[in-house]
Amino acid sequence: MNDGDGTLSAKAQGGQMGPLGTALVIIPTYNEAENIKTIVGRVRKAVPEAHVLIADDNSPDGTGKLADELAAEDGNVQVMHRKGKEGLGAAYLAGFRWGLERDYGVLVEMDADGSHQPEELPRLLTALKGADLVLGSRWVPGGRVVNWPKSREFISRGGSLYSRLALDLPLRDITGGYRAFRRETLQGLGLDEVASQGYCFQVDLARRAVRSGYHVVEVPITFVERELGDSKMSKNILVEALWRVTAWGASDRIAKLKGAAGGRAAKQA
Ligand code: GDD
Ligand code: MN
Repeated sequence: MNDGDGTLSAKAQGGQMGPLGTALVIIPTYNEAENIKTIVGRVRKAVPEAHVLIADDNSPDGTGKLADELAAEDGNVQVMHRKGKEGLGAAYLAGFRWGLERDYGVLVEMDADGSHQPEELPRLLTALKGADLVLGSRWVPGGRVVNWPKSREFISRGGSLYSRLALDLPLRDITGGYRAFRRETLQGLGLDEVASQGYCFQVDLARRAVRSGYHVVEVPITFVERELGDSKMSKNILVEALWRVTAWGASDRIAKLKGAAGGRAAKQA
């Protein structure tokens, strides 16, 4: 990895680019009864060596029971039953912990509704051979979105642009949820301090990865809007994202100013 000063980062050099190991695909679900069997089938077919963990928040529509049926048929499918709807971020944190307690080398985030096509996962995993974190990206050349209303595209592009500028991140799709992490990367992100509950969880992790000096690579994906069930995007999720990103941006700037002031004081002394 080039750090800008021409040297290779310690992380890129330091053995982290070794073999990937077994991948665990974590699929958070809330009311995905119409989608869960299809998505798990597609993952198992596209990447047969990968295992699947469904993290269900006690969906009222019975997704958890369908997930149990899948797990009973297939030893490489597991289900985590959570007590109630606590947000995408909390479900992923629990799923990551579960995976890190076992010896998975790669942890993958994927939506249940088919928006993240399992057939594109091999490309993400290939890119991870030369990276610490791979983001499936809608907003790099070659990436696109199918069947989204203009209004939703505007929110998503706006969210990424605002996050990029406020947090000074060299990334195009910062809110996306199709990602592959090396286990060492997740272990280095300070997951115990992550408080984000909703979709801003994705921004939080991207920001932590860049700040920690990990090599983050964006791979173009085609995001296909769901045909069945409903999006869980809500005003509360948007508001949480807006205030957290703004607060992170402000504290970054204050830290920078303090650093600059400290530097001047040291020079003068
Ligand atoms: N366990 C659990 N708990 N799962 C949840 C919860 C929750 O509270 N909220 C959402 N999910 C699951 C859904 O069931 C689905 O599998 C996945 O998280 C994504 O939810 P969607 O509701 O389909 O998200 P979206 O299509 O509106 O949003 C997409 O774009 C966002 C912004 O770019 C997703 O790709 C998000 O990951 C992304 O952040
Ligand atoms: Mn969706």
